[in-house]
Amino acid sequence: MDEISSIKTAFSEALASAAMLDGIERLRIQYLGRNGALTAILRALKDLPEQERKIRGDAANRLRAYVEDALHEKRAELERTTREGILVKERLDVTRPGLVRKRGHLHPVTQITREVIAIFAGLGFAVAEGPEVETEYYNFDALNIPADHPARDMWDTFWIKSPKGDVKTENVKRKSERLLLRTHTSPVQIRYMESHQPPIRIIVPGTVYRYEATDASHEIQFAQVEGLFADSDVSVAHFKAVIGEFFARLFTPDTVVRLRPSYFPFTEPSFEMDISCTYCSAKGCSVCKQSGWLEIGGAGMVHPHVFKAIGYNPKDVRPVRSKSPTATAVPTKSGRTSNGVQGFAFGMGLTRLALMKYKIPDIRLFNSGDLRFLKQF
Ligand code: FA5
Repeated sequence: MDEISSIKTAFSEALASAAMLDGIERLRIQYLGRNGALTAILRALKDLPEQERKIRGDAANRLRAYVEDALHEKRAELERTTREGILVKERLDVTRPGLVRKRGHLHPVTQITREVIAIFAGLGFAVAEGPEVETEYYNFDALNIPADHPARDMWDTFWIKSPKGDVKTENVKRKSERLLLRTHTSPVQIRYMESHQPPIRIIVPGTVYRYEATDASHEIQFAQVEGLFADSDVSVAHFKAVIGEFFARLFTPDTVVRLRPSYFPFTEPSFEMDISCTYCSAKGCSVCKQSGWLEIGGAGMVHPHVFKAIGYNPKDVRPVRSKSPTATAVPTKSGRTSNGVQGFAFGMGLTRLALMKYKIPDIRLFNSGDLRFLKQF
């Protein structure tokens, strides 16, 4: 009987200190399992004399009932308390304000590129693209900028070593394959015209590269947008109308465009485009150097040499007396008949437009990777 009461004491102590459900299960196995302490006593009853078996059997069965009840109760208590604990721990305060998730957003140059594309799409222009690693032929030669011509110095160039070795451009007909990072988006004009016939109305947004010193308005890698409108009767008046409408939509309706005579080998006549200063509403400030004007890009009527190199028949715009009788309806190199093509082209600094639109003081901020700057857009 001492043995039964010491089992009861040991069990009660162990049960009191059990704090986890798996501890309860261990106690059940320890006392009631096949090799458990109480099971051994119950199993040994059959070998006892009848009188003793009865007394010991009663005590052992009472202990078994006690152990079973105690285990059941303790298990229920632990289940309740752990569930309550979980509920308290995981309680949701649905009245608390939500956390605002941080979302990425588009780079300001991408934003302005999309805006420019949308405006020109509204004016009937499609988007064309070309490679950033370009050949000397498309970047210079086909644009009427022959090798060794001083005009080439207008575009300081990053040259790329070609695996095929450099092919010199003495003979333009061989189409120089010397590689470079395109210095402007103008080569895409040529690529597009090679595979399309007029009427053409495209813009070409894209990255260009120049090997030059950087400052607040000059980067070595920046974005430009090229424009090309080629058809049979396209004049400078059309260009002024298109570009005026573009700036009115990008900035404000009262933005004024000014054209100044300039020089580009691939346009004749050529202009420099200015717009009234967006910082000071043309009153004069440090950004426009008190002039009231900001330089935005170059433009002009596509040079007949460029059209000829493509195989188009450029419209003869000489005075009527000297006009060639074949000026209209002559076959082009590609075999198609053309009534003579005229067109305007322009190239603007997209990154410069972003500077003006968002009133940013330094162009170098765009590629700085500085999140304090980028998060403001
Ligand atoms: C050109 O690149 C000509 N291809 C533009 C053109 C196209 C003329 C079609 C005629 C017909 P220019 O080198 O001026 O031209 O560059 C055009 C514009 O690019 C500049 O007015 C300026 O806004 C921007 N730009 C030029 N260099 C830089 C630079 N280093 N950093 C940022 N923007 C620049």
